Amino acid sequence: TRPLVVAIDGPAASGKGTLARRVAQALGFALLDTGGLYRAVALSLIRRGGDLRDTAAAAATARSLTHGDIENLMADPALRLDSTAQGASIVSAVPDVRAALLDFQRGFAAHPPGGAKGAVLDGRDIGTVICPAADAKLFVTASPEVRAQRRLNELLGRGDAAIYADVLKDMKDRDARDSQRAVSPLVPAADAYLLDTSSLDAAQAFDAAMTFIRSRP
Ligand code: C5P
Repeated sequence: TRPLVVAIDGPAASGKGTLARRVAQALGFALLDTGGLYRAVALSLIRRGGDLRDTAAAAATARSLTHGDIENLMADPALRLDSTAQGASIVSAVPDVRAALLDFQRGFAAHPPGGAKGAVLDGRDIGTVICPAADAKLFVTASPEVRAQRRLNELLGRGDAAIYADVLKDMKDRDARDSQRAVSPLVPAADAYLLDTSSLDAAQAFDAAMTFIRSRP
């Protein structure tokens, strides 16, 4: 039987990463954080001394990554830096970069590692482009102010210096880039369940998501 696919999309710091992890664990499904793939491309390009704005170099980097490279980069602490996130949002607007990562994502959904019965993919365009036939699609949102506060707490929590106004501005810049790009903009799929986590904690968001997923035929 075909593996089940849960697609979880949404903007930065909406809570989709935490939600995806909990849902995958509860269902025993494999998890792919697709933002990590774009971060891996950006990080690899930066380390090669490349220019993030060089679209040909970004595409070549994306095409050159082996499964092993992806595994190593995804486990690299530098993947979580804000500079890597901003780089990811630049390279992810390049159509050839997105095309180069398509097979990896679809392969993961079709053949979840470890023989899992299904896969949870979280990102920006899983329900719209990568897995349009997903069994359950969620679009997770929260107000920019709430998301900036969450990101600020995360940064302060790991000892980074940050101020709210800067975090909010970076968040809005990244939202604008992700929503306005020509290829795979951040938009909810028509059949996605909209989950606004502005006033929900992680446990409440998880309960709402599982209720929706279990209601699927
Ligand atoms: O979710 P995360 O913050 O790790 O994503 C980093 C960047 O990668 C996003 O700002 C977005 O530009 C890009 N991305 C994307 N498509 C995805 C996942 C992430 O374009 N499916």
